[in-house]
Amino acid sequence: MIKLGPFDLDHPFLLAPMAGITNSPFRRLMRKYQSSLVISELVSANGIEYASHRTLELLKFTEEERKVGLQIFGEDEENLVRACQVVEKMGADFVDLNLGCPVPKVVKKGAGAAMCRNPSELGKILASMVKSVKIPVTIKIRTGWDATLRNANEIVKVASDAGVAWVAIHGRTRAQGYSGDADWDFIGDVKAKSALPIIGNGDVVTPEQAVKRYKTYGVDAVMIGRGALRNPFLFEQSFDLFEGRTPQAITADRLIGLLDTQKLYLAESFEGRASMIHARKFLAWYSSGYPGSAEFRRKVFTIPDGEVLWDETRNFFRTAFEQRDMSFLSEPFLMGGHG
Ligand SMILES: Cc1cc2nc3c(=O)[nH]c(=O)nc-3n(C[C@H](O)[C@H](O)[C@H](O)COP(=O)(O)O)c2cc1C
Repeated sequence: MIKLGPFDLDHPFLLAPMAGITNSPFRRLMRKYQSSLVISELVSANGIEYASHRTLELLKFTEEERKVGLQIFGEDEENLVRACQVVEKMGADFVDLNLGCPVPKVVKKGAGAAMCRNPSELGKILASMVKSVKIPVTIKIRTGWDATLRNANEIVKVASDAGVAWVAIHGRTRAQGYSGDADWDFIGDVKAKSALPIIGNGDVVTPEQAVKRYKTYGVDAVMIGRGALRNPFLFEQSFDLFEGRTPQAITADRLIGLLDTQKLYLAESFEGRASMIHARKFLAWYSSGYPGSAEFRRKVFTIPDGEVLWDETRNFFRTAFEQRDMSFLSEPFLMGGHG
């Protein structure tokens, strides 16, 4: 057991919010496979109360996902406060504010990573958000705007004064995007000076790295994004290692079992066509790095019939599994996103 803000968690390894990825079925799957909590992708706070069907879909979650947070982004204080209240009304366990999104469309409006350029103004907005709800308000930031403004320490200070429950830090600046390596020394330094729980994030792809980052840098938790797409057993394995157990081996049967579960969860959440679109995306990610993955991906996006595709999928993973070489984990993967 560990403590993260107000929550007791089984262990300190948790799934990062990712747009187009951490939808309700995938969060449910990752909770089943031991992510210690889950967070939605970013949802715009502007007009959330008159939300479109698509936005409302993004805010839905199942009971099995708890502890589950919904992530919002925006630049306007009133809208952010209202969005916190909507998230609370939806019954989420916490509300997370995205302060790390580097995407031009978002930062141009002053949202995402741009909000951290003005810490005192941000502090006021955070205080209003915290005051407006009973559930914890959390934030996710980068180390800073660019190499000349790495002000995560200052952001943590204003967040702490405002009553925020924890800060997750992706160890790159906004200017870096996804290039270079996440700076865990910097994260460790912020943690050492922080009054708030700090979650470290960036470039963790193996259970050994997850446990080592946790122990070396003294962070309160380790957040893992892209690594979970390449190895969806990463939380379970990290938990095992953390508890001193040998991580359970991943077999083709176990992976196919996980895929079957995700297929079921997708079908329970989405209409047939949407469910297939999501399934195809995930199959492409999961297969990346396996021998024959280019040919399999071509099939993923061209086979129209769901059941035929599923048979192909089982065959592909059964054959590819024994031949794979995990060195692909160190290759660049999904170099872009909203945080
Ligand atoms: C495709 C993609 C989408 C993302 N969407 C979000 C998002 O909606 N909110 C957010 O805070 N971070 C988002 N991120 C950033 C991740 O949460 C995380 O900070 C980043 O990927 C670094 O961690 P990793 O190396 O473990 O993937 C996204 C990242 C990717 C790759």
